[in-house]
Amino acid sequence: MSKSEEERAQGKEKITLLDTLFNVYYNGKVDKAFMREEMENIIFGGTDTVITTLQWTILLVASHPEVQKKLHDEIDVFYRETEEINAASLKKLLYLECIIKESLRIYSPVPVVGRVAGEDFKIEDVKHAFAFIPFAAGPRVCIGLRLAYMEMKIVLSRFFQRFHVEATQKIEDIPPSMEMVLRPTKDIYAILTHRQSV
Ligand code: HEM
Repeated sequence: MSKSEEERAQGKEKITLLDTLFNVYYNGKVDKAFMREEMENIIFGGTDTVITTLQWTILLVASHPEVQKKLHDEIDVFYRETEEINAASLKKLLYLECIIKESLRIYSPVPVVGRVAGEDFKIEDVKHAFAFIPFAAGPRVCIGLRLAYMEMKIVLSRFFQRFHVEATQKIEDIPPSMEMVLRPTKDIYAILTHRQSV
């Protein structure tokens, strides 16, 4: 019996987002146009956001050699000690997570989200739970949040495991532009050097 057949037999089968969507579709609760819109949301919402965050993060790390050194140290230990890359083991990449969060703070890919406040409230404290919401918050929070962190951690850790990156432009000379997502206004060039340890 395969793992998925076993899980189905034990009633432990995981329901994916696609299962949920196709269930409501085949039950006649939504039409094809709804399905198309949802698929577009997932594909477009999950592509450019992640790609621009990767771009900005690589540029930020390349611009801060001391950060890159600490990141290389964390990644080297991680790949030496980790047998399987999965949601649990990726949690160990704490410094990389801080870097990604800092990148999302400075260059938030979706800096503006339209909402109507149910009631007035003031954000006075920078430690307020809503002071940092690159994935929005509340009932319409980004559904790809966890997936996004996992994707970005895998790509960035593999990338920095192999390469040392040197910036060739000053980050302040690359202003962001607010399009569908917050993009760099210029092409980014960097010098990649293979790391000896890999
Ligand atoms: C760095 C990566 C990402 C960022 C910064 C981000 C940010 C956001 C934000 C701010 C929203 C709320 C938009 C609004 O209400 O106007 C949102 C919604 C959404 N995101 Fe993401 N996202 C990311 C990655 C992903 C990924 C990987 C996926 C899916 C594979 C995804 C799928 C969606 C979907 C479907 C919605 C709409 C949710 C709803 O309206 O209920 N996102 N995202």
